[in-house]
Amino acid sequence: MSADKPRLLPLLPVTNTFGRSAVTCRYRCGDACSHDVPNTSDNAYFGDVVAEVVGRRTMLKAGAVLAVAGAGAATVGAGSAAATPGRGHGHGHGHGHGHGHGGRDDLDFQPVAPNTEDRVVAPRGYDQGVVIGWGDPVLPGAPRFDFANQSAAAQAMQFGYNNDFCGLVPLPRRWGSQDRWLMVSNHEYTTESFMFLGYDDENPTREQVEIAWAAHGLSVVMVEKERRGGLQVRLDRHYNRRITVNSEFEVTGPAAGSDYLKTSADPSGRRVFGTLNNCAGGVTPWGTILSGEENYNQYFANADQVTDPVTKQRLARYGISGGASGRRWERFDDRFDLAKEPNEVNRFGWVVEIDPLDPDSTPVKHTALGRFKHEGANVIVARDGHVVAYMGDDERFDYIYKFVSDKRMKRGNSRYAREYNKRLLDSGTLYVAKFRGDSPADEIDGSGQVPSDGEFDGFGEWIPLARNDRSFVDGFTAEEVYVFTRLAADTVGPTKMDRPEDVEPSLRSRKIYAALTNNSQRGNPGTEGPTEMNPRPANRHGHVLEIEEFWGDNTARRFRWKLLLVCGDPESPDTYFAGYDKSQVSPISCPDNVAFDERGNLWISTDGNALGQNDGLFAVPVEGRERGHVKQFLTVPHGAETCGPVVTDDFVLVSVQHPGELDGASADNPLSHWPDGGDSQPRPAVVAVWKD
Ligand code: FEO
Ligand code: CA
Ligand code: CA
Repeated sequence: MSADKPRLLPLLPVTNTFGRSAVTCRYRCGDACSHDVPNTSDNAYFGDVVAEVVGRRTMLKAGAVLAVAGAGAATVGAGSAAATPGRGHGHGHGHGHGHGHGGRDDLDFQPVAPNTEDRVVAPRGYDQGVVIGWGDPVLPGAPRFDFANQSAAAQAMQFGYNNDFCGLVPLPRRWGSQDRWLMVSNHEYTTESFMFLGYDDENPTREQVEIAWAAHGLSVVMVEKERRGGLQVRLDRHYNRRITVNSEFEVTGPAAGSDYLKTSADPSGRRVFGTLNNCAGGVTPWGTILSGEENYNQYFANADQVTDPVTKQRLARYGISGGASGRRWERFDDRFDLAKEPNEVNRFGWVVEIDPLDPDSTPVKHTALGRFKHEGANVIVARDGHVVAYMGDDERFDYIYKFVSDKRMKRGNSRYAREYNKRLLDSGTLYVAKFRGDSPADEIDGSGQVPSDGEFDGFGEWIPLARNDRSFVDGFTAEEVYVFTRLAADTVGPTKMDRPEDVEPSLRSRKIYAALTNNSQRGNPGTEGPTEMNPRPANRHGHVLEIEEFWGDNTARRFRWKLLLVCGDPESPDTYFAGYDKSQVSPISCPDNVAFDERGNLWISTDGNALGQNDGLFAVPVEGRERGHVKQFLTVPHGAETCGPVVTDDFVLVSVQHPGELDGASADNPLSHWPDGGDSQPRPAVVAVWKD
């Protein structure tokens, strides 16, 4: 099966002019790209505000900043690293066997060529295996997966649908093996037309809806290294866990108990059932998982019956409009009906924290990190011990945020230290990013050509929005800043970005890398045109941004930034690979998730390859003479998205999300048979790849 196969009976209109199929857009984001851009605020480009602020303060010369940061870099990562497991931080296990694919100049695999195959393609000399996929048992006693006879009760014990983020948390040493982890996966969304034969999207059955509720959320599974190199699941009674739309969460932080969060089922505004559309995430230095509630808007119906103008404006800014929801959940639970429960929607759009090492713990929704379409959150411990979380709001023309904790992290793994650290994200300051380019505006002409100073680059500042009960935004109380963060941010002039996805700090260098996946609308009438930080109109392929905080201090208010990559076909003049020889790099399109290996190389997974090829996982050194040398490490099956990369010296894990999700495909007409082959239905799954 491949793109060569004729596409049958397109059942849905094609709404996405990029690489993603219409069916994916519909089920994953509620067709976000076909709706008007929710951010209609009028933010300046070369903002006078920043120019003024920058001009009136004494600025460091760039060289001095870089020198300071460079000097510190050797010492910084280590403190965090010891305690920081797994995903994205590349310290999943400190006993590296050293034969890996890492290495600043040691990404020694042969790049995988672009393709449209219905399989995972890894470099020559690498082996692969599925770790777990949709319907596989998570809890002991879970029934075997039976596609044609799935039930909600079975699904609640099995691996959910459309796994996105994947993180590894090392088990305590008393488990006797360093080769055992708790693997946590997000189940971002369900694609009902791929899950049920004959699915009628106008009239889902109660059982189908309850299966979908159980297929959302997260899974925690114990995994251990196999002798041959992959990972295998252990059906552990103590640690394995499913979190679904029906699991209880505690709301914490400054907006907990807010009137905006109260519903008839929860007059306290502190207890929420479920988490929705969990996209990316991160492993914290204290061994918990953060997970972002992203396109939650699509699950809520009947915004068109809301009459209060303020509420309508708030809903619109979060992309919530129209009548019936795509999945019709409102027919089975009033809380998804805005006409009946107007505040339930405010209880989603948060960063949630799960402690996989304490399976009885109640997961938390952290209001201090603001409410928007959270892609994810990634934490670094600043040199002074405060923790800093970086976050993207995945919408065209939306913003990048950071949070700096009031308290300092406690070292060690004592129960007291862990419980203390699990509250760090409840009090602190929430900031939004404003970027300024340093090249003349007429050199940012939309061609994608690098300006005459040789870089898309400049300075920026973090604008404070709120700190606990104190608002820094005129016209907004602190609780309004937290619950309606997008609207508060709009008033302080942050920079509109091209869909900020993962924003993740390197523990080695303390620099931050942001995937800006694409923006179909930039430069369209009524929208902002090219800027130095988002230099292409109708940005099809996206770009990768590098941020370096002043003094290498992640709590700083100012930073330098530059574009590392402007993605697309290397033969096209509007692409840029950090100045590296473009004849030597792999084509890359629509960067989404980022991670680091143990040597500090950046790994990038893609979502929606607009070059017509399968999505993939790429590695690129970010320091030294190989900086910008992008190489494709693997590709995923046709119609799938690559997410959740975990990169260690021993293996790479990727989430293969929505395999075969092509227009015209469905359970009645599957266009992928990955991973089980034959005439099987496609199943989203986690795959391990290792050196043979
Ligand atoms: Fe779920 Fe931002 O991708
Ligand atoms: Ca420049
Ligand atoms: Ca994503």
